[in-house]
Amino acid sequence: MKKTIKDIDVKGKIVLVRCDFNVPLNDDGVITDDTRIVGALPTIQYLIGEGAKIILMSHLGRPDGAPSEAFSLRPVAEALTKKLGRPVWFESVAAVVDEEVKAKAASLLPGEVMLLENTRFRKEEDCKDKDAQRPFAEQLASLAEVYVNDAFGSAHRHHASTAGVADYIPAVSGFLIEKEVKFLGEALENPKRPFVAILGGAKVADKIKVIENLLKKVDTLLIGGGMAYTFLKAEGFEVGRSILDAESLDLAKSLIEKAKEENAELLLPVDVNAAAAFENDAPAFIRNADEIPPDLMGLDIGPETIGLFADRIAAAGTVFWNGPMGVFEMPAFAAGTRAVAEAMAASGAVTVIGGGDSAAAVEQFGLADKMTHVSTGGGASLEFMEGKTLPGIAVIADR
Ligand code: 3PG
Repeated sequence: MKKTIKDIDVKGKIVLVRCDFNVPLNDDGVITDDTRIVGALPTIQYLIGEGAKIILMSHLGRPDGAPSEAFSLRPVAEALTKKLGRPVWFESVAAVVDEEVKAKAASLLPGEVMLLENTRFRKEEDCKDKDAQRPFAEQLASLAEVYVNDAFGSAHRHHASTAGVADYIPAVSGFLIEKEVKFLGEALENPKRPFVAILGGAKVADKIKVIENLLKKVDTLLIGGGMAYTFLKAEGFEVGRSILDAESLDLAKSLIEKAKEENAELLLPVDVNAAAAFENDAPAFIRNADEIPPDLMGLDIGPETIGLFADRIAAAGTVFWNGPMGVFEMPAFAAGTRAVAEAMAASGAVTVIGGGDSAAAVEQFGLADKMTHVSTGGGASLEFMEGKTLPGIAVIADR
């Protein structure tokens, strides 16, 4: 068990909190999904209530180690000011930390909140060479007395601001990391059975390690989405013009074998909704998964597969889902993804959504509130489910 902010006395202390405020912005710089900001509020509100002096920090996007207005955290500071109902001090400082920032940090009053500028404005932040991250990590840590990591979405990155700072001041976790580790960890290590995992998305290669790890844990693995076609091809079926990760064919074959060794049931689509063009209004045809004609591409799982997957989900004790079943951004090919989300919402099982596209899908269908846990980490939740130790979590002190 990792220490949390509840295990230490934060009253009157200057606390440096790493959040993942890497939120999507539209062309006008307006935040289009504030889930990650909302996810950080319990920790910030608790610290305010305890009379801590709060310095928030995060990266936003990939500005390549240079300041840029387009990647400024100013919109986040404004959103936080509204949500917390109190001013959040923010100056767009290119160096992230300068004399003004240091002076502000030192003069914070209990319950006051400030936000640093995008930590990726400094190239040291995510430098591959960890030693090169150290001076920036030390500079950040020197602002505060305690480090709180609550950035689950960035916990798979070894950055100066996620892991490096813990070399200089004591590190504990915030409530969001605590919650993420609890739900993802329990699904992996102590699932209520049957444990059903559903994986989708385009590339097998991206999911290989998570499939390998999950096959050791699950009772059933359901595979849909773009990567299903590589598995169908590996089974010897023709997949027409469906997306194919040809380089991963052998990998897919070995995963099918591995499922047998592990006694895990691996289910592929038995039918697909296919079209001749990657377009929402292209005429669509339901075809058996072993008979996709040469001119068609599968863009969603078909109705029989939906029924098959929904049955497994209805009987599950725990369901973990990562990756859409089809091109759910196009309404004509969203049925499979929607059906999986609905089956999970209705299942009564412990339901855990890995972040990224599947989190966006349950949000889009208005079902996020019906899930036990929707992860705020895309890459981070996948690496966690691969069984990896995430650097941002490894640095948090044990209880
Ligand atoms: C994410 O959105 O997955 C995290 O914020 C990490 O961002 P990155 O992939 O740019 O490191």
